[in-house]
Amino acid sequence: MNARARAAQVLDRVVSGRRSLNDALVVGLQEVADARERALIQELSYGSLRWYYQLEAMLQCLLNKPLKKRDSDLRCLLLAGLYQLTRMALPPHVAVNETVQAARALDKAWATGLVNAVLRGCQRRKAQLEADIAASPAALYAHPGWLIERLEQDWPNDWKTILQAGNQRPPLSLRVNRQQTTRADYLALLQREAIKAAPLAHTPHAIKVEEPVPVSALPGFDAGLVSVQDAAAQLAAGLLELEPGLHVLDACAAPGGKTAHILETEPGLASVTAIDVDERRLRLIEANLARLGLAARVLHADAAEPGSWCDGHSYERILLDVPCSATGVIRRHPDIKLLRRPADIGSLVARQAQLLGALWPLLPANGMLLYTTCSVLADENERQIGSFLEDHPDAVEQKITASWGRRCAHGRQILPGEDDMDGFYFACMRKQL
Ligand SMILES: C[S@@+](CC[C@H](N)C(=O)[O-])C[C@H]1O[C@@H](n2cnc3c(N)ncnc32)[C@H](O)[C@@H]1O
Repeated sequence: MNARARAAQVLDRVVSGRRSLNDALVVGLQEVADARERALIQELSYGSLRWYYQLEAMLQCLLNKPLKKRDSDLRCLLLAGLYQLTRMALPPHVAVNETVQAARALDKAWATGLVNAVLRGCQRRKAQLEADIAASPAALYAHPGWLIERLEQDWPNDWKTILQAGNQRPPLSLRVNRQQTTRADYLALLQREAIKAAPLAHTPHAIKVEEPVPVSALPGFDAGLVSVQDAAAQLAAGLLELEPGLHVLDACAAPGGKTAHILETEPGLASVTAIDVDERRLRLIEANLARLGLAARVLHADAAEPGSWCDGHSYERILLDVPCSATGVIRRHPDIKLLRRPADIGSLVARQAQLLGALWPLLPANGMLLYTTCSVLADENERQIGSFLEDHPDAVEQKITASWGRRCAHGRQILPGEDDMDGFYFACMRKQL
């Protein structure tokens, strides 16, 4: 099947089926062996979702009458066609002809005239269309309206920058496994493979690859020399003040990026327990640790119910990397723009508060809990920690002083794109004696 038709099906699985883009791509790339075709399907899927709200507004202007619900695949094909014409450096006639052919591949030969008319209309009226849709913030910033409003409230000076960062392509960032090599040696290895890369600021083991490559092309990846991890996520292990002999709990651990980093940072820890409620994702922790030559106690458990797995243990360090809106990583996961709904935020905030409350008793006096999210919303971040501190008189915030991010009423926030990092939030709390 034609790559554009496959991309339309991937998009339809996300838009109508509400599947994640990752899951939709696993299905969409099955049986596609050709590397260039795979790359095109991915580019069309990511790009059309990244610009969805803008492309959708254009499509509304270009259609004479709405498409039927059963033609949602065709609608997605049209969005991918508009993406090619507005955002890809492709000869327009190739974009139009191939997209028309894709309608046949979707068994919608009746729609070839329609696809042709919509795409040619876009070519003819591009400047006018862009002016027409600019009145709608969702179309202008290519984000859902409810999120734009929340960002405006939470970040009155930065909301536009956050939205623009959400539309960028993310860098491929790596974490060098310090138990096996150094950043300088790994950079030399990349150079030998003609992969352009540079050190990232703020963390001693982070590297940015200038032009993303598949992990299979990274030297020593299978042997555990390196992992893919954003530089912001690499700040968590340093904030935990790890020392030999400590017992560490990583309470929401899958796929294990931070668990592995904790183990790489301090091999002398007394124990590391990594738990996750999602059994499928738990297998990823095991696979990652095995690849990196690391070991932890990996448990399938609900962090909100410590009675069922904790056996009275206490942990001097707890990392609580909570499930969150992921509004700080939209540039990596543009499907979040469509999949996340306003009502999700309230239930996420409640789950996060429940996790904080359930894990706090596992911390001994003077122990530290590091709360992290990849969100930029105050309800999940500074307000969440503010209300936790109010309700827990034995919790004291340990202010984070750092060269990165910005201080909030509580905790510290990195906004997406800052120093090539994802949007991330950190708050450290100590238990008072
Ligand atoms: C942000 S991700 C964690 C990312 C991970 N720390 C890393 O660095 O690779 C949040 C994780 O929390 C898990 N989770 C959600 N609710 C949980 C619960 N009640 N108990 C344990 N894990 C939970 C999810 O399955 C998900 O894997």
